[in-house]
Amino acid sequence: MNQYTTLLTEITDGILLITINREDKLNALNKTVIKELDEVITELYNNPEIKGAIITGKGSKSFVAGADIAEFKGLDEASGKALAKRGHEVFNKIEKSPKPVIAAVNGFALGGGCELAMACHLRIASENAKFGQPEVKLGLIPGYGGTQRLVQLIGKGKALELLMTADTIDAACAEKLGLVNDVVQTVELMDISRAMMAKITAQAPFAVARVIESVYAHFKDGMDGFDTEIELFGKCVTTNDFVEGTSAFLEKRKAKFSGK
Ligand code: COA
Repeated sequence: MNQYTTLLTEITDGILLITINREDKLNALNKTVIKELDEVITELYNNPEIKGAIITGKGSKSFVAGADIAEFKGLDEASGKALAKRGHEVFNKIEKSPKPVIAAVNGFALGGGCELAMACHLRIASENAKFGQPEVKLGLIPGYGGTQRLVQLIGKGKALELLMTADTIDAACAEKLGLVNDVVQTVELMDISRAMMAKITAQAPFAVARVIESVYAHFKDGMDGFDTEIELFGKCVTTNDFVEGTSAFLEKRKAKFSGK
């Protein structure tokens, strides 16, 4: 395996465990994490020893609390679009992986964290997990596929509600909506995720890969929506409300939006 600075990796019984390792920032996705996720998913594709991957976050509080808001400073339309496009590339690569990928969601899965979990094939949540797409609080929209995958998973009505209100929901609610496959006791999260992965990897790998390919063929029309999201994310970062929303978060105060 490659060595990573923001990820911990280990292979046990053919299952690659990827732990995002920025606990002091609640495992927020900075550029390095995105780059290293890209690399580790390439290893998943290419290493014949690996049959599937589980993605989780370091610590007991957070899976991933979003894209790294500190890196949003100074974005313009072109760099905003580039940031969203890069996230799309990596998350699409996870979604299209011919080998199964499970998100073991161990706490906050907000913004890019919820989007990362949704890009995985299955999601298993611990009882303390919390989900949401709070981007409108920052003067933004989701930029890593969230507007498309949330609709695909839970339907338009509830997706619009979560996207427009920025509400955070608990694991039980996420299960009720179909956002997660299962909710388990926190201490059992990794064992149950591994057991689910073992059940899948015991099946014919070629057939499992074709199941993934065939299911995602159903959503092919949605690809225009992904392109639209990249365009509109780029537009959001040109607004005063984006500067205000992100500054307010970093300065730990409530944002005052002007609508401009
Ligand atoms: N980007 C950058 N830093 C983040 C972050 C993010 N998305 N989420 C959390 N952090 C950092 C905080 O700035 C803080 O860093 P500091 O200790 O250097 O000040 C650290 O992680 C701990 O977070 P904190 O806010 O103190 O924890 P909390 O328990 O009070 O609140 C959350 C937890 C998840 C509710 C809160 O961190 C939050 O709202 N995060 C942003 C969520 C978000 O908007 N995500 C979408 C981004 S597009």
